[in-house]
Amino acid sequence: MSEKYYIKTFGCQMNVYDSSRIADMLKKEGYEETKHQNEADIVLFNTCHIREKAAEKLFSDLGRAHLIQLERSEAGKDTIIGVVGCVVQAEDEQIIKRAPYVDFAVGPLMYHKIPQLLQKIQQNREEHGFVETDFPAESKFDFLPENRAQGACSYLAVQEGCNNFCTYCVVPYTRGVEYSRPVAEVVKEAKRLVETGTLEINLLGQNVNSYHGEDENGKERGLAYLLHKIAEIDGLKRIRYTTSYPADMSDDLIACHKDISILMPYLHLPVQSGSDRILKAMNRRHNSADYLRVVEKLYAANPLLKMSSDFIVGFPGESDDDFQKTLDIVNKVKYIQAFSFKYSRRAGTPAAVMDNQVEEKVKKERLDILQTLLFDYQDKFNKSCIGKTMPVLLEQKGRHKGQLIGRTPYMQNLHVETKSDNMNKIINVVVSEATTNSLSGKEI
Ligand code: 5AD
Ligand code: SF4
Repeated sequence: MSEKYYIKTFGCQMNVYDSSRIADMLKKEGYEETKHQNEADIVLFNTCHIREKAAEKLFSDLGRAHLIQLERSEAGKDTIIGVVGCVVQAEDEQIIKRAPYVDFAVGPLMYHKIPQLLQKIQQNREEHGFVETDFPAESKFDFLPENRAQGACSYLAVQEGCNNFCTYCVVPYTRGVEYSRPVAEVVKEAKRLVETGTLEINLLGQNVNSYHGEDENGKERGLAYLLHKIAEIDGLKRIRYTTSYPADMSDDLIACHKDISILMPYLHLPVQSGSDRILKAMNRRHNSADYLRVVEKLYAANPLLKMSSDFIVGFPGESDDDFQKTLDIVNKVKYIQAFSFKYSRRAGTPAAVMDNQVEEKVKKERLDILQTLLFDYQDKFNKSCIGKTMPVLLEQKGRHKGQLIGRTPYMQNLHVETKSDNMNKIINVVVSEATTNSLSGKEI
């Protein structure tokens, strides 16, 4: 019987993608996936460092994994515990110091080393506690097995890292400087995803719209060029890209929203705050007027386009007036979905040592007010879909027999009664009910 692995993923879509690539590597080495941690011979945590809570969760999960490791050991079974991802890059050797039962810890740019580390540990169980946190010269993508469809919707990393250094953010430190994969490599991977069953590709990057990969002639190409190339792939029905940085929304990229019919009419474009003073303190390269200009151009390119965003409340120095400006921008753009967070102090970032930190109580109050407003727009948009026909890509079984769940072009979850062999297909549905979080409807 082959050995089993279990991966728990925290954080962003890039981590979800990384976990699927780690799984590909482990499968190639002959391991089998399990969804049950207590039957896993290898337990992996793919971690997120973006906010304090995400990192704390890791250590409570590790504590539980240790108990399972001890129980299994009494039954004569070995369990290798590994931690990968951004917490490793940030904490380095500290992870093993704090959790000495962790067998290896690997940063986000080094996970292609995992099979070698596993071998090393299995050969000599006395030796463990390896930490790999280099920013290597080679690209990890060169060492990974070919990517296969993760289902009808697949992620494809085209860019990694960030050079923006927003003053609150750990990403430039944990994921390193920007790296763009060459055009041909991305197109090859996209074709393979489609051949293995993908209908929707989501191009991923921390700063995806600053993509600048080389083409076959060594010429640097932007995301617009890449999108056109990918849109040519036969059988591909939908394209998305995320996450974009407002100041890097070039006109040729905006034009893609008019010219590429399979580019979905939904864009995640984090604004973070509506106050110019705070945006400056955050070191964002846009003010609120710049942002609104980009949004207008996008709405002009595709009048059906809708937006989502990320927000931070309680950034150091944020006054009531600054916060009001964030509410104002929400009222102007009318986001249909959003993620909003209380500012979290991250060691090593400039904002963590700013002396005008906002009280926790104020952060909480502002978050509540902002989320109420955001949910209201989300709810209104969902309700406005009632009576409309939407193409839905079915990708999950529903709770009831005969029910499947799919995604609309706007990333809403939609429940529908339909035959089970419609799974992984796009069907047309008339929306009949809507809540803040999901839709349901009838197949036509
Ligand atoms: N505190 C709170 N939110 C943060 N984000 C990034 N860093 C922090 C932080 N220190 C949020 C931003 C970003 C999203 C991925 O996480 O809104 O867009
Ligand atoms: Fe972090 Fe800013 Fe880069 Fe986004 S653009 S990953 S928030 S530093």
